[in-house]
Amino acid sequence: MNSLLSLPIAYLLGSIPTAVWVAKIVNGKDYDIRNYGSKNSGLTNTIRVLGVKPALPVVLVDLLKGFFAPTIALWMNEASKASGGPDYFWLPLVCGLLAILGHSFTCFAGFRGGKGVLTAFGVFLALAPVTALGAFAVWCLLTFITKYVSVGSIFACITLTGLATFGYVAPNIYPHDHINEGILSIAWIVAVFVIYKHKANIKRLMNGTENGFGKKKKKV
Ligand code: G3P
Repeated sequence: MNSLLSLPIAYLLGSIPTAVWVAKIVNGKDYDIRNYGSKNSGLTNTIRVLGVKPALPVVLVDLLKGFFAPTIALWMNEASKASGGPDYFWLPLVCGLLAILGHSFTCFAGFRGGKGVLTAFGVFLALAPVTALGAFAVWCLLTFITKYVSVGSIFACITLTGLATFGYVAPNIYPHDHINEGILSIAWIVAVFVIYKHKANIKRLMNGTENGFGKKKKKV
C-alpha cells in the first residue's frame, strides 16, 4: 500500500466535526453549536453551551484523531519501508498538520471547524509526548489561574515552541536524523496557526469581554 495514502486519511480523520455532531445529537439536527457561546466548535464551547457530559466524546475523539493521524502515517511508512518502498520520514509530521487543518477546515461541516488545540495536543502526544505534556501542564496552570481557556491555549502554544526551540523535543516515537528539526518546524507552524485562530479571543481578552469559566462577563 502506498504510504502517501495516509495524507488524505489524516485530513479526513481531523475533519470529524465532533462538537458539531455531538451538539446535533443532543439538541436536534437543526442545532448548530457554531451559533452559540463563542461560536467555536471545540471542547470549551461544548462545555460552555451543552455541559460536561456531552463534552466527553468531544475530548476523546478530538484528541484521538490528532494522535492517530501521525501514528497511522508512521505505521504505513514503516510497512512501506519493510516491503522495499520509500522512507518518507516527514509523513507523520505532515499528517499531524493535516489533521489540525482538517479539524479547523472540516469538509464534513462547511469548512468551519474549531481552533485545533485538542487535536494539536493529540498530534504532539504522538510525536513528542514530553513536549506535549509540558505544554499541557502550562495550559492547565494558566487556565486554572486565569479562568480563561483561551489564555491557557495561547500560552501552551508558546510553551510548545519554546520547548521545541530549546531542543527538548525528545523522547518521541519516531527516531530519525532530522526528526527534531521536523518537530520544531511543525511546532512553530501549529503554534502560529492556533494563536491566529484565537484572534477573536485575544480581542475579547483585551477589551475585557472574554468568556471565562467562573467569571462574570463584563457588560459593554
Ligand atoms: O481551545 C479553544 C479555547 O482556547 C477557546 O475556546 O470557545 O472560548 O473560543 P472558546
